[in-house]
Amino acid sequence: MLNIKINLKEVKQMNDNKGQNTTINWYPGHMAKAKRIMKEKMSVIDVVYEVIDARMPYSSKIQDIESIIGNKPKLLIMTKMDLCDKKETERWIRYYEQLGYQVMGVDLEHQQSTTGIVKKTEAMMQDKMDDMIARGMKSRRIRVLVVGIPNVGKSTLINRLVGKKVANVGNRPGVTKSLDWIRINQRLELLDSPGVLWPKFDDQTIALNLASLTAIKEEVLPIYDVVCYILNMLYTYYPQELESRYGITTIDEEDMVNTLDIIGKRRGCMIQGGEIDYDRVMNLILNDMKSGLIKGITFDRIEELV
Ligand code: G4P
Repeated sequence: MLNIKINLKEVKQMNDNKGQNTTINWYPGHMAKAKRIMKEKMSVIDVVYEVIDARMPYSSKIQDIESIIGNKPKLLIMTKMDLCDKKETERWIRYYEQLGYQVMGVDLEHQQSTTGIVKKTEAMMQDKMDDMIARGMKSRRIRVLVVGIPNVGKSTLINRLVGKKVANVGNRPGVTKSLDWIRINQRLELLDSPGVLWPKFDDQTIALNLASLTAIKEEVLPIYDVVCYILNMLYTYYPQELESRYGITTIDEEDMVNTLDIIGKRRGCMIQGGEIDYDRVMNLILNDMKSGLIKGITFDRIEELV
């Protein structure tokens, strides 16, 4: 459970700053190494599954993936379809398809079968496999690597594909050294551990989207800025969520502390003497987002990002 301690004075100061000083730093270290290891693996891989979060199909995408995987065929897999705004997702799917991607949306929480992904992969690779056989090479399974930034659902996807729990759900940046293959069926095999890479970390909107919805280390979060961003996004695009979850129909953009006060009172986040416990209010909002309690939302807005 996320819990970041901040007192009222700090909250007020943060409000005065109004996000001017917000910087979220991404996964320092390990990056060059992760990239090098991934490049090494590419020589034995036929298809890459790039996993992204349907609620942020742009922000959760790997920075410059082509420089790592070259021109290997890839399937863009959008997870968390149960949590996204389907209308926005459709637009993103069309956008990526126009860029030449093969795209599939999945709900790994409720959907056990991954037959669609397997079939699509087989179809994508049919020509290559036929060609190998025509050139007298021995038939072999299609080799797949799952890659993505932390928390997009890579391990869950691997577990679903394999049909049992093999990958550590909730793992951290970095890649496993060994190359162990797991059989999916007669025609497909999977590298046992996913490749963990990083998003585009030079854009603060992307960083705020990621911080709001999942993949960022709690200790580097400027929590007040992130919570203000969440409330602003919900107010702008999903006011019904703001109302049903927090009982408010508007926010005080000038002084968000007032909005936190109202939510705090409604949700019983108080300390002795009737004061608002800002820690609790902010952590409550952040946890509501990260744990998927607020559904039907997409924070990447295609018209603003591309
Ligand atoms: P990663 O390997 O890319 O780091 O991600 P991982 O599979 O660990 O998934 C991160 C979290 O996202 C997990 O929740 C997982 O259950 C959840 N998740 C993955 N795909 C979907 C999906 O399609 N829909 C929904 N609703 N959730 C999904 P967690 O709370 O971190 O772990 P756990 O409670 O499931 O163990």
